[in-house]
Amino acid sequence: MADKRADIPDALNEEYYQINLDILESFSKYRPPLSLFRFKEDVARVMSYCQAGERLSNEKVEELAALVEEGLVFVSRDDHPVYVKHISYQLDLVLVDKNLRESEIADIFAQALTRRLAEFFDQPVALVFAKLWADIMVLTEYLFRDAHRVRALTKRLHAEHSLENHSFNCGVMGLAVYAKAKAAQFEAGDIKRKGFDHLAVGLFAHDLGMSKVPAFIREKDKPLTPDERAKVQRHTQTGYEMLTKLDLRFPEIEECVSEHHERLNGSGYPQKKTGALSEAGRLCALADSYCAMTTKRIYAPALEPMKAAAALAQDPGYDSEFARSLQALLLATGKLK
Ligand SMILES: [Fe+2]
Ligand SMILES: [Fe+2]
Repeated sequence: MADKRADIPDALNEEYYQINLDILESFSKYRPPLSLFRFKEDVARVMSYCQAGERLSNEKVEELAALVEEGLVFVSRDDHPVYVKHISYQLDLVLVDKNLRESEIADIFAQALTRRLAEFFDQPVALVFAKLWADIMVLTEYLFRDAHRVRALTKRLHAEHSLENHSFNCGVMGLAVYAKAKAAQFEAGDIKRKGFDHLAVGLFAHDLGMSKVPAFIREKDKPLTPDERAKVQRHTQTGYEMLTKLDLRFPEIEECVSEHHERLNGSGYPQKKTGALSEAGRLCALADSYCAMTTKRIYAPALEPMKAAAALAQDPGYDSEFARSLQALLLATGKLK
């Protein structure tokens, strides 16, 4: 089919997103949630087409679809927050929208994944997990095309502690460290997609067992009693058991969930495993601790990223190769403080 899309001056893309049919169809058909603009070829200018929430007639709906197909319809980048929120509910649109910048895509992923994680922790059942899974698969598809893209996500970590924020941070940092440590293998096409998908799910969902720990313990702002601590420490085992119910028996996911509190020198829990930790388990342990150390906790202030990474690199409980990759990543992204 001949390309019907109009030639659009580059400068336009600075101010507007050109939208395609997938994006248009994701809007409410008769009441688009944001103002739309039309590129008038004869005057080479963008003009208002309809206002946010305006009711469109049947004729206008049809006309709009035809204009979108010709590449003549735009939304303003000033509407970024509305657009991000909208796309974050239909994350696969990120993969088809050619006009989004890397930083805008990172915003969308951060919003979508954090919300999906919160929904799952609130209601830890297979139906809700399926949505989280689907969104993580959009992310892995996006990163598999170019693993460096994960860097934009590392600039969107949450500063406040909550289970969903921590889980998002850990997923992103785990994938970023992995991309750094395995850069050559990614380049050579030696990383298997399935393993990467499962690793990503394992990193984001490593603390799923925490969803069964009562919120008053999880959110307690005082030191835990020994009994409460025991309940918290059971979360890796609980999480592992939940994987069966969720039908998620894949090695990388199981390893992240069950080993992220184990340490290479046997100082971790629950099994005090030693050197026999899996690669996914070692990666998840490092990402988990790094994210905890760099977030303000009730018993300790947030550490600066480089200080946390240096402490982990010297700690015999952690994988030194992944710890060095974390340091290199922080240096490369300028995230020193
Ligand atoms: Fe944990
Ligand atoms: Fe964790």
